[in-house]
Amino acid sequence: MTTMAPTDTPSTQKPDVKKLFSTLCASMQPYIMFRIAQRVADLTPELEAKNRSPIKMSIGAPTVQPPKALKDVLLKAMDEPVHTYSTSKGEPFFRQAVQQRMSERFGVDVDWATETCSLLGSKEGLAAMFRAVITPKTEPMDKDIILIPDPGYASYVDAINIAGGTPYSMPLNPDNNYMPNLRRVMQELNNRGYNPNNIKALVINYPSNPIGAMATMDYFKDVVTFAREHNILIISDIAYSEMVFGDTEKPHSILEVDGAKDIAIEFHSLSKPYAITGWRLGFAVGNKDAVGMLGTVKSTMDSGIWKALQRAGAFAMTSPECAQFIQTMNKVYEANQQFMVAGFKKLGWPTEALNVPKATFYFWIPIPPRFDNCDSFATQLLETSGIVVVPGTAFGPNGEGYVRLSLVNPREELQEVLDRMTADGFTYEGNL
Ligand SMILES: Cc1ncc(COP(=O)(O)O)c(C=O)c1O
Repeated sequence: MTTMAPTDTPSTQKPDVKKLFSTLCASMQPYIMFRIAQRVADLTPELEAKNRSPIKMSIGAPTVQPPKALKDVLLKAMDEPVHTYSTSKGEPFFRQAVQQRMSERFGVDVDWATETCSLLGSKEGLAAMFRAVITPKTEPMDKDIILIPDPGYASYVDAINIAGGTPYSMPLNPDNNYMPNLRRVMQELNNRGYNPNNIKALVINYPSNPIGAMATMDYFKDVVTFAREHNILIISDIAYSEMVFGDTEKPHSILEVDGAKDIAIEFHSLSKPYAITGWRLGFAVGNKDAVGMLGTVKSTMDSGIWKALQRAGAFAMTSPECAQFIQTMNKVYEANQQFMVAGFKKLGWPTEALNVPKATFYFWIPIPPRFDNCDSFATQLLETSGIVVVPGTAFGPNGEGYVRLSLVNPREELQEVLDRMTADGFTYEGNL
């Protein structure tokens, strides 16, 4: 056996691992919510010392226990033969539950075997989908383009960048009723020197994070027409489809539009409706080529969801107990919203400035005029009062001037937020 002889003189040069990183990753920062969490952890001793323990209004994660019936299914499933690998696409029983759900909730017929795929949360699924359509390039103007809502879910930008594409903002404003005109976006992109032929996909997200905006069926029809005309994949992120208040019409799936399945894939999440953000359960459904390629990409990265969780997920999607849980929680979120709207009005926020959506559990509020930008407001609110909110620009440049609060906390904490803001001078017109 031959071995390599050690060199007599070890190199004095210090290795530089950082030099080895991909150019796409080198300038990347951890996901915004984890950055905020780290900053809060660092500040906690200081905040506790002045009686301002952090109150986290930042992350969109329900804090209540999931439905008992759902936990029972998970516990029981442990005794089944569920402890070996699943597949990236998921077990047939899970995907059949997806088929049932799509039919009962949206009136959309899908074939579980070819048009559905399980996801370890929709965040993971979206990231894999971006990789499936983007051919990585480094020259900025050559890159494949994905149109994304701005403000929109913060993860889109990172996931597209790391896949070597360009995330291109579609501004959501009151002026366009939060439904951007796609032809105008394409025209503007062209005027700015981008090549419209590089557009691979467009992301829509209704009800939307962070605004809570909803889309009309007419808009969905228009999106489908546009996407078919230009052969652009529609990636519909419908993570908040179930979180709607009162007798508001339930959000639609874009797959309800005739011909949508030829060009659209939709990403659903079980995280928020069943208060199981940590379980990592979601599914994709729609165009079979897109679903197939998604499954292939995923198979290089994951080995599927733990089968016991898939059992529980299938139960969640089809059981009346879990549907009832959603109804109950939506009433809680709506009441929280009304409570906070009243509280912010008392703090001086003008009624017309407060966006009061009919869906999601987010509260998207303008910053007081004396603050230069949303970052400085969010930072002062954290450092002075221990209240953790997300600056609007975390969701895109068009989010400047706003912050997002997540209304999932117990009522006492919401009250404490309002009390601290009053005591610490965070009124709309105040001079802090
Ligand atoms: C719009 C939107 N899409 C997708 C996700 C990801 O959810 P999950 O990965 O838990 O399914 C989130 C989470 O906050 C979201 O806000």
